[in-house]
Parts: sequence; C-alpha cells; structure tokens
Amino acid sequence: MDLAYTEEHELIRKTAREFAQERLAPGVAERDRDMIYPEEQLRELGELGFWGIFFDEKYGGAGLDSISYCIAIEELSRVDASVGVIISVTNSLAAYPIDKFGTEEQKQKFLAPLVSGQKLGGFCLTEPGAGSDAGAQKTTAVVDGDNYVVNGSKHFVTSGKNGDIFIVTAVTDKSQGLKGTSTLIIEQGTPGLTVEPPEHKLGIRGSDTHALTFDDCKVPVANRLGAEGDGFKVAMTALDSGRMGIAAQALGIAQGSLDASLQYAHERQQFGKFLKDFQAIQFKLADMETRIHASRLLLHQSALLKDAGKRYTKEVAMAKVFCSETAMWAAEEAVQIYGGYGYSTEYPVERFMRDAKITEIYEGTSEIQRVVIAANLLAEWAKMHG
Ligand code: CAA
Repeated sequence: MDLAYTEEHELIRKTAREFAQERLAPGVAERDRDMIYPEEQLRELGELGFWGIFFDEKYGGAGLDSISYCIAIEELSRVDASVGVIISVTNSLAAYPIDKFGTEEQKQKFLAPLVSGQKLGGFCLTEPGAGSDAGAQKTTAVVDGDNYVVNGSKHFVTSGKNGDIFIVTAVTDKSQGLKGTSTLIIEQGTPGLTVEPPEHKLGIRGSDTHALTFDDCKVPVANRLGAEGDGFKVAMTALDSGRMGIAAQALGIAQGSLDASLQYAHERQQFGKFLKDFQAIQFKLADMETRIHASRLLLHQSALLKDAGKRYTKEVAMAKVFCSETAMWAAEEAVQIYGGYGYSTEYPVERFMRDAKITEIYEGTSEIQRVVIAANLLAEWAKMHG
C-alpha cells in the first residue's frame, strides 16, 4: 500500500496545525482547569469542514480521505485533545453510521446538518452494566404505532450536553441476544430525554461528558438506522471508524509530548549543559520519535484499507492499542524529562499525561483491542489452515 502523502494531505495538516496554534493553544490550560467547552473554536472548525472530513460534498462534507481525517485529528489533539475527541465522535460515531446504513431521507435530514457543521453528534452505547461487554444492553425500544418508546440510561456520552444528534443502541427483541438490538437516531430536546450533570474527569476536561436518561422517550420508527436487529453490527462498524479517530487523537498527544520535550531540552540546563546534550535524554527523544513514527504508519495503513473498502477491524485495533499506549508512555517520558516542572500545571506535559490515559480506555480498552486482534488473527489462521 502506498503511503506517499499528497498535496491535499499537506494542506489539511497545515490548516489544522495553524488552527491549533492560533485558536486552540491560547486558553487550552484554562479550559482544562475549569472544564470550559471550546464552543467558539468548534463552530469555526465546523465552518472549516472538520465536522464532516471524509463525507461526500453533496451532503456538505469536506470530501477528503481517511488519512486526511487522521492528520486533522492528530494536529488538533497535539494541542487540545478535548477538541480531538469531539471532532472524532461527530465524524466517526455519529455521521459515519448514518452515511453507511442510512436511507437517502435520513442522510438529507441528519447527515447533511452533521457534516456541514450545523449539528454536532454523539454516540450512546455504553451503559452502567454494558462497558467492554457492549452486548449487555438494557435500554429498551418498544414499538408503539409510528414510534419507538425508549427507556434506559446511557453513560459517558461525549458531547452529551452540546450534541444535537445521537446514535443510540437499544434492545428491540430481548430473546434475540446480540441480534435483538437496533440503532435509533435521537435528537437532543426530544421529550423524555434528560441530560444528566457533567462527569468530572481526570483528562479531556474541555469536552463535555454526560449520562443521558430516556424515560418514555418517543422516537419515530423512521429514525431507525438499518434493519431491526442490526444494532450491534452498526455499533461495531461505527467503532471501527471511531477507533481510527481515537488512535489519531492519541498520536497527537504523543507528538505534543515530544514537541514539548524537544523544546524543553533546548532550554533547560543542568550540570552546565543543555538537556539535549545528555545521552540519557537523547535516547528518550529517539525512542519517542521511533514509536510515534511507527504509530503513524500503523494508523495511516488502516486508513488506506478503509478507503479501499476492505475490512480494517484488526488493523485499526492494532493502531488504536499502539497509538494509545505510545501516547501514555510518551507523555510520561515528557513529564520525566521536565522533572519537577513536569509535575506542575505551569507546563502542558502533565495535561498530556492525563489526556493520554483515556485513549487506553474509551472506544474499547486496550484489553478489548487485543481481544479483537487475537480473534481476527486466529480466524485468519483457521482460514489458512482449513
Ligand atoms: N464490524 C461489523 N460487525 C462486527 C464487528 C465489526 N467490527 N465486530 C463484530 N461484529 C459482528 C460479528 O460479525 C457478529 O455478527 P454475526 O454473529 O452475524 O457474525 C456480531 O457482531 C458479534 O460479534 P462478536 O461475537 O465478536 O461479539 P462479542 O460479544 O464477542 O464481543 C467485543 C465483541 C469486541 C468485545 C465488543 O463487545 C466490543 O467492541 N466491546 C467494546 C465496546 C466499546 O468499544 N465501547 C466503546 C463505547 S463508545 C465510547 O467510548 C464513546 C465515546 O463517546 C468516546
């Protein structure tokens, strides 16, 4: 597969990088400290096409490829990982399943406002008792005339308060197990939908995370995405794309950690020389560069597979686990290079470390990624060996 970057890729990198420097860097520390949602910056990103990076221009999307998507999220997250996750979720977990499974009518009604930057999306799969075991859904949707009546509770919803359109998984036929769930598109403000108070989190504190409660919430049957019983497949398909976005977010955090380390290594002197001149520090920088480069290659290769219309479940799981573990490790190395200052909020590296942790948890923990990788690997082996 050809990993040569095009002029379009360089342009999206430049645009996202400049935006991050000019519009995200000022105030990122305060937003993190005070849990301030970057509303103005997100609106601007919507106008620039970042809410619909890889969607058809006929719906108002930017019409770019998946590598562009990865580059954009990496560059934003290099400065502000909260913005990175919001952009990833609206593209991959909200718009993408509508693009993939929606009718033309649903695309006009829900996809177009999402990808053109008018409405923001969220994804409701996780429940109090359904985290890694995503199949253990308790939220129900029962048909009543032209509506489903939805009851239940969804947890840890990114953009739960600020999102406009949610992709919700609910049980429509308990007797069918995993094949008894369906996907509904539910709009913010629908009677019976309550946004619960915000979660107070270790990291990505500029993004809003809420539980959503559904209490006899009536949703038109016309809002069902795909067939009844397709809910688990829709969620897993969306998560393949979502994991690409989170891997890119993690890559951005790792790169941000290296950027900060390089800067500090040129400023800080101990024992009469700059940190950059100590081999102990050089080896850390070398390892960071190597692992970040490998992460980027893994991620972009999964993006190429996606755009070629091939199954990329295993490859994106490998990218997600590798990028997120690289982010956590690189951020910790950065804190170590900064020493005591790294432990202080005066510098960004402690934030990178807090932000990195969630990339090993959401959209499938590192353990779940390994479950997915192993299952695919064993299936490939079985196919090859009869
Ligand atoms: N694409 C399409 N279909 C898929 C699929 C994929 N990637 N993965 C599985 N499926 C299908 C399978 O083909 C199978 O269908 P058939 O029976 O027709 O063949 C069906 O789904 C069941 O698959 P499995 O037997 O593999 O399912 P499982 O119950 O063993 O477990 C799991 C699957 C991988 C553990 C899954 O439950 C999982 O991914 N868990 C993690 C959940 C997760 O990532 N949650 C993230 C929450 S979202 C979030 O964090 C949001 C946010 O706001 C940031």
